[in-house]
Amino acid sequence: MKPRVLVTRRIPETGLEMLRGACAVDVREGDLPPSRDELIERVPGARGLLCLLTDPVDAGVIAAGADLSVISTYAVGFDNIDVAAATARGIPVGNTPGVLTETTADLAWSLLMSAARRIVEGADFSRAGKWKTWGPTLLLGRDVHGATLGLHGFGRIGRAMARRAGGFGMRVLYCDPNVPGTEADGATPVDFDTLLRESDFLSLHAPLTPATRGLLGAAALARMKPGAVLINTARGPMVDHDALLDGLRGGNPGYAALDVTDPEPLPAGHPLYVQPNCLIVPHLGSASVATRTLMARMAAENLLAGLRGEPLPNCVNPQVRG
Ligand code: DGY
Repeated sequence: MKPRVLVTRRIPETGLEMLRGACAVDVREGDLPPSRDELIERVPGARGLLCLLTDPVDAGVIAAGADLSVISTYAVGFDNIDVAAATARGIPVGNTPGVLTETTADLAWSLLMSAARRIVEGADFSRAGKWKTWGPTLLLGRDVHGATLGLHGFGRIGRAMARRAGGFGMRVLYCDPNVPGTEADGATPVDFDTLLRESDFLSLHAPLTPATRGLLGAAALARMKPGAVLINTARGPMVDHDALLDGLRGGNPGYAALDVTDPEPLPAGHPLYVQPNCLIVPHLGSASVATRTLMARMAAENLLAGLRGEPLPNCVNPQVRG
């Protein structure tokens, strides 16, 4: 009998096809994430769980999955999974690093450019029929060329940002406690205070961990260069949204471009949605057809390897298979 695997939302067909060859695939239908209770109800009997970054795979869910031999997430970030609980049970957890690096950097760069040159405000202005003539001071923005880009987090995506910045003649600074402090990809290592003080554009590219949660709180936001742009394509809880709203209302930061929020999404009517110097898009970092297809393949490969008892091609807790 084929092992049952639970897939918490429909992913690109290529990934599901790969699973169907070897598994009884139980794809949960619907566009919204499962609640914790629903996961606890559906995971018993599943040998594999293919989840999304929206799913609360906590210790209770893992405990309910008594037959689980692998968890595979359709994402590079895995802060929604209690990896310690999985490890304690000897369950490998797979993710999808690498394939989404350039796509996510493209999106972060789009946000940076949109924020700098007020693209969304300009589009809204035109659509509203307000464009009467060329104006000497109409919708003036910030120059990207020659400005300083600060990267918090200098892993794969941070470095891809640094490479893009080279083409725009930017000065690039980075701060990452996990990276040896050497010049790389044209970027100079600095401490967090220097990053805040000197960046015209500050872009976040670190994983969500206890150390990065709330990283941009009121105090850090106040230390940013006056009028600077904050870009977040990492995880929402790295930024204190109440403090951000206060800051944006006072003009510092001068602009925030967010692909991720806390919570996600923000509740309808949240003041950040209508704050003129804030741009919010719905977590689109990896959202290209090609990348999401590759992510589906990688997530399926991880799941299938785990079911066979083999090392996962991309495993966040490789100590499990020692
Ligand atoms: C991830 O994979 O963690 C990204 O946030 C998806 O865009």
